[in-house]
Amino acid sequence: MATILITGCSSGIGKHCALRLHEEGWNVVATARKPDDIAMLQEAGLTGVYLDYTDGTSLAGAVGAALEVGGGRIDALFNNGAYGQAGAVEDISTDVLRRQFEANFFGWHELTNLVLPHMRQASTGRIVHCSSILGIVPYRWRGAYNASKFALEGLASTMRLELRGSGIHVSLIEPGPITSKFTTNGLPHFVDNIDIENSVHSRVYRKQLERLQSAGGVNRFRLPPEAVYVKLRHALTSSRPKAHYHVTVPTKFMGVAKRLLPQSLIDRLLLGSG
Ligand SMILES: NC(=O)c1ccc[n+]([C@@H]2O[C@H](COP(=O)([O-])OP(=O)(O)OC[C@H]3O[C@@H](n4cnc5c(N)ncnc54)[C@H](OP(=O)(O)O)[C@@H]3O)[C@@H](O)[C@H]2O)c1
Repeated sequence: MATILITGCSSGIGKHCALRLHEEGWNVVATARKPDDIAMLQEAGLTGVYLDYTDGTSLAGAVGAALEVGGGRIDALFNNGAYGQAGAVEDISTDVLRRQFEANFFGWHELTNLVLPHMRQASTGRIVHCSSILGIVPYRWRGAYNASKFALEGLASTMRLELRGSGIHVSLIEPGPITSKFTTNGLPHFVDNIDIENSVHSRVYRKQLERLQSAGGVNRFRLPPEAVYVKLRHALTSSRPKAHYHVTVPTKFMGVAKRLLPQSLIDRLLLGSG
């Protein structure tokens, strides 16, 4: 039975993918941060383990637990747990940006490097990262999150080339809007870390706050997490996993537009969508 370590399984994409892989017979080591969420994963028959990307000890602990249940092997890693820090770049302190990177980028790098030697030993493995449409194109007032996903795209793509011929494959999944708690979970970071009333962007922020408080509003392109799972499954099981998996119409459109259209036109599209 193949073993996979998946992070951020308390809700949304991580939870759905962990449960689906368990159904399909994978040995799933699913991580979360809160005791209740770990208990929920255990009750569902998975191996629930504590992991917070900002806590290095927990990363080593989760890898140790995965090796134990995998009989010394970790066949696959799905880096998924993250949050979105909203706010204009000029309103984000460097410390807040650093925290975004600790959770969304440095922790992912650290966990990957802890898992990799075991995959190297086995000469096989799948590393899949959950990126975003915002790893492909910028979006106003999402600079911190944007930067973390752009950084991820660069690091993972370099690693993919460095691992060529090793038997270990690296894939990036780039979802657009997916049903999850992502918007709700991002709200406290926005409210706590951005001076909403005293910013030159306060009018926009107030509108965004309204939208965030109504759980993200309506988006006709939003898909359920199953859409991500279908891509994850391919990345894990195909003999020729792809480097990039675009999920949802906006991501597919932007992926093509970025290659074909001049920057001025893409900027107009992006300014029209914010
Ligand atoms: N939903 C979308 O529209 C969308 C679009 C593009 C990309 N994505 C990406 O999809 C992935 C999953 O997000 P989601 O949509 O499923 O959102 P979600 O429902 O908010 O789930 C995010 C998960 O990440 C965990 N997490 C947050 N900070 C963490 C940290 N420091 N260390 C470890 N885990 C942490 C959360 O745990 P807690 O419950 O403890 O906070 C939760 O389990 C993310 O990488 C996100 O960037 C989402």
